[in-house]
Order: sequence, then C-alpha cells, then structure tokens
Amino acid sequence: MRLQSSLLLSVAAASVVAAETQFYFYGFGRAGVESSTDALADEGGWIQLPFEFSDNSLIANITIGTPPQEVGLIIDTGSSEFWVQTAANPFCEDPDSDDPCVYGTYNSSASSTVSRLEEAFYLSYLDNTYAKGVYAVETFGVGGATLLNQTFAIASKGNISSGLMGVGFESVESAATKYNGVLHSLKDQGYISSMVYSLYTNDLGSAGNLLFGGIDRAKYDGDLVSLPIAPNDEGQYQDLRVYLQSFGIENPDKKTKTFNSSINTAFVLDSGTTGMNLPTDLFMDLVDYLGAELNSTYDAYIFSNCQDYVSFDDGSSNYTVIFGFDGITIKVPLAYVVQSLSDDDHDTCAISVAPSNDPYSYILGDFFLNAAYAVYDFENYVIALAQANYEVEREDIVAVRSGNNSIADAVAS
Ligand SMILES: *[C@@H]1O[C@H](CO)[C@@H](O)[C@H](O)[C@H]1NC(C)=O
Ligand SMILES: *[C@@H]1O[C@H](CO)[C@@H](O)[C@H](O)[C@H]1NC(C)=O
Ligand SMILES: *[C@@H]1O[C@H](CO)[C@@H](O)[C@H](O)[C@H]1NC(C)=O
Ligand SMILES: *[C@@H]1O[C@H](CO)[C@@H](O)[C@H](O)[C@H]1NC(C)=O
Ligand SMILES: *[C@@H]1O[C@H](CO)[C@@H](O)[C@H](O)[C@H]1NC(C)=O
Ligand SMILES: *[C@@H]1O[C@H](CO)[C@@H](O)[C@H](O)[C@H]1NC(C)=O
Ligand SMILES: *[C@@H]1O[C@H](CO)[C@@H](O)[C@H](O)[C@H]1NC(C)=O
Ligand SMILES: *[C@@H]1O[C@H](CO)[C@@H](O)[C@H](O)[C@H]1NC(C)=O
Repeated sequence: MRLQSSLLLSVAAASVVAAETQFYFYGFGRAGVESSTDALADEGGWIQLPFEFSDNSLIANITIGTPPQEVGLIIDTGSSEFWVQTAANPFCEDPDSDDPCVYGTYNSSASSTVSRLEEAFYLSYLDNTYAKGVYAVETFGVGGATLLNQTFAIASKGNISSGLMGVGFESVESAATKYNGVLHSLKDQGYISSMVYSLYTNDLGSAGNLLFGGIDRAKYDGDLVSLPIAPNDEGQYQDLRVYLQSFGIENPDKKTKTFNSSINTAFVLDSGTTGMNLPTDLFMDLVDYLGAELNSTYDAYIFSNCQDYVSFDDGSSNYTVIFGFDGITIKVPLAYVVQSLSDDDHDTCAISVAPSNDPYSYILGDFFLNAAYAVYDFENYVIALAQANYEVEREDIVAVRSGNNSIADAVAS
C-alpha cells in the first residue's frame, strides 16, 4: 500500500464506488469458500479468498486464532507485512473517529493458539499512518485453508483502521527476521503447489477474489501474457512491477490515439492503491486530450463537457484509456480516471489520477487492476495479464504447478 498522495484522489475514488454500488452488487453468498482444499499439493490445489471493495480498499475476511475470530483485512499486492488490529489499540475506541476498526479486531487473550515472538513490529505508510506492536504466531483460516504457525504482527497502537495482508515479496517485510507470508505458507502446508495467485474484480469493481495457486480461465478474454517483473536497480525483486510500453485513448469509433509508444517504464500493480500515479508527461497527455486546466480552487485539473465522455447514469464510458505492455493491451474505461466535481454538476470533471516524478511511485492501482485479470508468479518472477471478462457466473479454475512455464502449462491443461 502506498496510499494516495492527493486527497482529491481518495475522495474521487470514494464517490465513484458509491455511485456504482447503487446499481449492482455481486455478492459472494457462501462463507467465502470454494476451494479445493483436499487436493494434494502435487495434484495441484487452489484456495479462493473473496473480497469486497470498501472504503477504497479490497477487504477480505479471514479468521484468526482458536476459537476463530473473524476480521477483515486489506489485500495489498503493494506491501508484504501481514498484520491485524487489536481492540486494545486506543485508536479503535476513539469516540471522535467514525467507525474505526470497522472490519473487526483480534483479541489475542481470547485465543488458545497464539504465541508471541520477541520481535517488535513497526511500520508506517507513505501518508504517515503507522502501526506498532509485536510479532506473533497463530492459526489462521484463509479461504477454507487452515494455516498453522503463521507469523503475523499484532498492532496495539497506530492510526490505521484495518489490518492488512501484504502479499508482495517477503524480502521487503519490515521484520528483521523475514517470515513466510500467507502465499508461501499455503504452499508449504500443501494447499497449493506453486507460489502464484490471481487477482480478479468484477465489472463494477465492487467485489472479486484472490485465487491462491490457481487461474480462473473463465475470468479473462484472449490470452494471458506473461511480463517479467522489473527488479530494482540492484537487481532485487522488491515490488510487483512490470514495464508499460504505450499509453493512449480509444474513442467510441475504436480509433486509438497513442500518446507515447516508447515509455518502457516500470509500474507497480498495486491492489493497495485505489487510483493511479502516472509519470507527469503521461498525465499531461491526458490533460491535453481532455482540454483540462489546472484549477486552483480544486487544486486539480478540471475540464468541461464531461458527459461527452462518461455517462453518469451508469458510470460507463465509450472512451477507454489504453495501457500497452509487451504483447498485451489493457483497456480501462475513461470513467475510472475522471470524476465529476459534484453530484449536481456532471458536466465538469476533474482528472482523478495523480502525476508523479518518482520512478518508484508509478502505480497502477485498483482501477487498472479492475480491468485486468492478473496472475502474479513468485517462482518465475512474472506477472501475466489479460483483459478481464465480467461474465462472472461461470468458473473454470485450473491449479498452477511449479515449473518454468507454469502459467502457460496450467492454462493449456
Ligand atoms: C466479511 O464479513 C462481513 C461481516 O460478516 C460481511 O458483511 C462481509 O460481506 C464479508 N465480506 C466478504 C468479502 O465476504
Ligand atoms: C479479550 O478476551 C479476554 C478473554 O476472553 C476477555 O476477558 C477480554 O474482555 C477481551 N477483550 C476485549 C477488548 O474484548
Ligand atoms: C497518524 O499518526 C502519525 C504519527 O503520530 C501522524 O503523523 C499522522 O498524521 C497520523 N495520521 C492520521 C491519518 O491520523
Ligand atoms: C507448528 O508448531 C508446532 C509447535 O512448535 C509444531 O509441533 C508443528 O509441527 C508446527 N506445524 C507446522 C505445520 O509448522
Ligand atoms: C514517453 O514516455 C517516457 C517515459 O515517461 C518519456 O521519457 C518520453 O520522453 C516520452 N516520449 C514522448 C514522445 O513523450
Ligand atoms: C475553478 O472551477 C470553478 C468551477 O468550475 C470555476 O467557477 C472557477 O472559476 C475556476 N477557477 C479557476 C481559477 O479556474
Ligand atoms: C456508448 O455507446 C452506446 C452505443 O452507441 C450508447 O448507447 C451509449 O449512450 C454510449 N455511452 C456513452 C457514455 O456515451
Ligand atoms: C525450463 O526447464 C527445462 C528443464 O530444466 C529447460 O530445459 C528449459 O530450457 C527451461 N525453459 C525456460 C524457458 O527456461
């Protein structure tokens, strides 16, 4: 999670979602479990963890401890720490705060399976929010799998309302002693056979699932195309980043205006960020296309005639923003990168993505990921992308086995 740098962005994101969820909500009726937990690892199993998009985050329910306590956690591909909030955190009881810790808290005194570790826990995110406590070991229920001896952190202080399941590289955990994350434990404890997960959200971005160890072939169109994960300057894998090559807009006549076809810049595919951070030159291409101008009152680029681009009846748009990677193009509705200034003035919109000059902060967050089906492979260091298919009723899940061609082999199986 690299929380948004601009307040406008988070406000904008909130209203997009509020407007959308009014129309249609795809609920996961069952207790979240549709997993092949009894498969032997070498037969290939998979674990499906449903989430909902709430307060600009992907929130999944898991259970902790014995007897199980249910809490909702943010699913974050942009960080690696696995931590939960406790009721003992004064922040969770703050009467001035509106619904703090609304996704539930964990009470370690009420669990018979917790054991505390010596190491202290502390982390802070880009927006200065922080969490502090201790590391411990517990039993977890994740999408139908029971994980024993899973290391995590218990936050008893801090000002973040929800704990987080960071599913990034373990090398960037803040703990001095690196521990196995949930994905790693699912493999070690025999639930999945390869360290791979797939991320899917439905058409309105209101719900979806993280599928550990598998790929749902019904949830994308065309081929999944594997892109190498971009290491950092020292050659280490730190962020789940891939190279973007081109950027443009397709109009309703299916004509594409490509702004830049030689970008070759890595972007983090971060489920813990709602919007997008684009390099300033790409951001300005969008500004010019829409005829937007910086408005000091709103501290944002605003433009008029917004309804020519976006329908506010259903949040749809016949214009799409085109993200070109090596071998695959992902189309994101323009409605996801702009936002009307107010409920009464649909004709004036602000651009709701943020410009950035920091190459490590170029991010494609939930609004991009919503349009894509993304398979993150931690064994071959690739992320495979395809355009998401919103025909949500059907499932066609295949397990991914270890191997240097694991995604393609699974898809072809
Ligand atoms: C998580 O649990 C809460 C409370 O029971 C429920 O409202 C919510 O829909 C659940 N979320 C998911 C993704 O199942
Ligand atoms: C935590 O659990 C203990 C043991 O069941 C209980 O005495 C205590 O009241 C609980 N604390 C909270 C904040 O619920
Ligand atoms: C969280 O606490 C830190 C440290 O006290 C503070 O700098 C930050 O502004 C707080 N953030 C929020 C959102 O309360
Ligand atoms: C969990 O820890 C206990 C106690 O150290 C040990 O007996 C058990 O084998 C461990 N189980 C797993 C799956 O790591
Ligand atoms: C294309 O994007 C890259 C990366 O942002 C930038 O360095 C380059 O100048 C851009 N080229 C054009 C023609 O805008
Ligand atoms: C900012 O936008 C508002 C609303 O459209 C407009 O009334 C105002 O004149 C604009 N201000 C500037 C400095 O452009
Ligand atoms: C998109 O195109 C369809 C078919 O031409 C049209 O009915 C719809 O109103 C258009 N939507 C927007 C937002 O322009
Ligand atoms: C995959 O592994 C096999 C067996 O080790 C090897 O022959 C092959 O070259 C590898 N392929 C790739 C693409 O690395």
